[in-house]
Amino acid sequence: MVLFNVSRVETTPFGDQKPGTSGLRKKVKVFKQPNYLQNFVQSTFNALTPQNVRGATLVVSGDGRYFSKDAIQAKADYSMLCCSQPAQVIFPYSLKGLGTLIIFISVTLTILCEDTSTSCWKNLLSLSFNSMASVIITKMAAGNGLRRVWVGQNGLLSTPAVSAVIRERVGVDVSNRLVFGSKATGAFILTASHNPGGPNEDFGIKYNMENGGPAPEGITDKIYENTKTIKEYLTADLPDVHPSSLPSYVDITTIGVTSFSGSEGQFDVEVFDSASDYIKLMKSIFDFESIRKLLSSPKFTFCYDALHGVAGAYAKRIFVEELGAQESSLLNCVPKEDFGGGHPDPNLTYAKELVARMGLGKSNSEVEPPEFGAAADGDADRNMVLGKRFFVTPSDSVAIIAANAVEAIPYFSAGLKGVARSMPTSAALDVVAKNLNLKFFEVPTGWKFFGNLMDAGLCSVCGEESFGTGSDHIREKDGIWAVLAWLSILAYKNRENLGGGKLVTVEDIVRNHWATYGRHYYTRYDYENVDAGAAKELMACLVKLQSSLTEVNEIVSGIQSDVSKVVHADEFEYKDPVDGSISKHQGIRYLFEDGSRLVFRLSGTGSEGATIRLYIEQYEKDPSKTGRDSQDALAPLVAVALGLSKMQEFTGRSAPTVIT
Ligand code: G6P
Ligand code: ZN
Repeated sequence: MVLFNVSRVETTPFGDQKPGTSGLRKKVKVFKQPNYLQNFVQSTFNALTPQNVRGATLVVSGDGRYFSKDAIQAKADYSMLCCSQPAQVIFPYSLKGLGTLIIFISVTLTILCEDTSTSCWKNLLSLSFNSMASVIITKMAAGNGLRRVWVGQNGLLSTPAVSAVIRERVGVDVSNRLVFGSKATGAFILTASHNPGGPNEDFGIKYNMENGGPAPEGITDKIYENTKTIKEYLTADLPDVHPSSLPSYVDITTIGVTSFSGSEGQFDVEVFDSASDYIKLMKSIFDFESIRKLLSSPKFTFCYDALHGVAGAYAKRIFVEELGAQESSLLNCVPKEDFGGGHPDPNLTYAKELVARMGLGKSNSEVEPPEFGAAADGDADRNMVLGKRFFVTPSDSVAIIAANAVEAIPYFSAGLKGVARSMPTSAALDVVAKNLNLKFFEVPTGWKFFGNLMDAGLCSVCGEESFGTGSDHIREKDGIWAVLAWLSILAYKNRENLGGGKLVTVEDIVRNHWATYGRHYYTRYDYENVDAGAAKELMACLVKLQSSLTEVNEIVSGIQSDVSKVVHADEFEYKDPVDGSISKHQGIRYLFEDGSRLVFRLSGTGSEGATIRLYIEQYEKDPSKTGRDSQDALAPLVAVALGLSKMQEFTGRSAPTVIT
């Protein structure tokens, strides 16, 4: 066993390490600053209880986004990241008697090579910002007295897979029976999710707790406070994971455990298969056999676009190897460090290739589009679901999954404990909850709010308008789960039709849903990279306006005489029903008499400037009126929203960057 000592390294605070909706996201050049990552990691360890650090196990996972393709550049950055000042060894740190805290190091390296040979991996290692970050975090984990690090093989773990593995590593015994086993106490996930990757793009890090979900605000606030006063961090002198010295450290291409010895105890790095635990979990939730029948039916055609994110690695294993889909049904499923230059966000604007293949916006196409299409974001927690020439809004998607879950998905056969959505998500789920007499919750934007409800047994299915859908099987949204949920519903609805009879399509399912529950016309306008000051002013004006509904209604009727009256306006505030914590300023709402809503929010996931999000919703109960084009139906409300907020005046933008 290799021996190690622990060092204390002096550092000075950075002023900009406030975690956003989902961790700390910055441009790569910001993360490249010496000690920038170390400060955040140490501030996180310092924000946790000692039991969650000493003797614990940490996960460090990345989605494959890299700092640079240029090896020379990467070497320069490597030296900067790894202790720019020589670390002074001041005391040997005790690791004795510590329990098991699991750090997952998942660097998503080999996925970048179609050839997963070690040499290819080593080559990439020298280029990978994620790998450098993982090395730093592993050393700091040993330095802070953690007991163990778990690493997805080749550094591969999607965000949902990290959540799953923190909660439970599932093994198989000699008879191939599932064995539910060890748990972790936390994870660092190295991803900027749906933000672009590459040298000039984004990198990110977030901490997930032992329930598998993102750290709650109480912890992220503490982390931020710590980043403002940090003076030193702890790190162990484990041999560097530089390509040349890699074999003496740990080979993450090979499943197994590498042990190190501190002066008083052991520190392990355990590498395991990244996909098999997740696949087993999926198999325990869904009826794979019925999905396999659907996918192998000549009547049903399928397409999955990973947008060059980490989902590609799972898609091949699950859709092709397990469920029998054609390999040609996978689009952009080779993960790339810069997501092929694209924006790995599964929506109608960025998933262009899939949208074209599915024939959206065209009444006829030369090639018949597939019956079902779906896309994922960089770290595979988001999803977009499409039918042939048909878009399913994320708000409708979660409502439809909730309405069909008990019949179509074995995991839910005993019934749903409750359902939840984020505030800006349309009220389609509310109507299902009311009809099915289910507990219902409206939470602020950010997946962490669902976690508390799930931990308390109050929520089974939840979703967000931002292309996030999931359930209490883990504590993150889950892009592949959402696709399997839709395939399960399709398989169930077509259980009699695959031999003969007309296929029930995605569009049929959605239209039938509208006929039963009514339709929530819905759209979101995003104004990206707006001047931060201007965005703040716009929001402040909207809040100020709320003090007089008479004035609001005068403005509204001046813009559009045929929309209903605003009857309530506020800033959304949430009191968590489980822990009583209060989250304020969670979005500005204007609620209309007929149930329509306008919501304004500033994005919490951007890395530069500000992104203003405008959410527009209108409810239509009359089944004869649910078939309109949503942009047409919403045009009057859009005009009101733009006028009320003086969008163009404040931002100088005459059109949004993205409409979903
Ligand atoms: C991440 C979170 C989601 C959240 C979304 C909001 O994806 O995991 O739970 O809905 O960010 O992003 P925004 O940019 O609107 O703050
Ligand atoms: Zn994501």
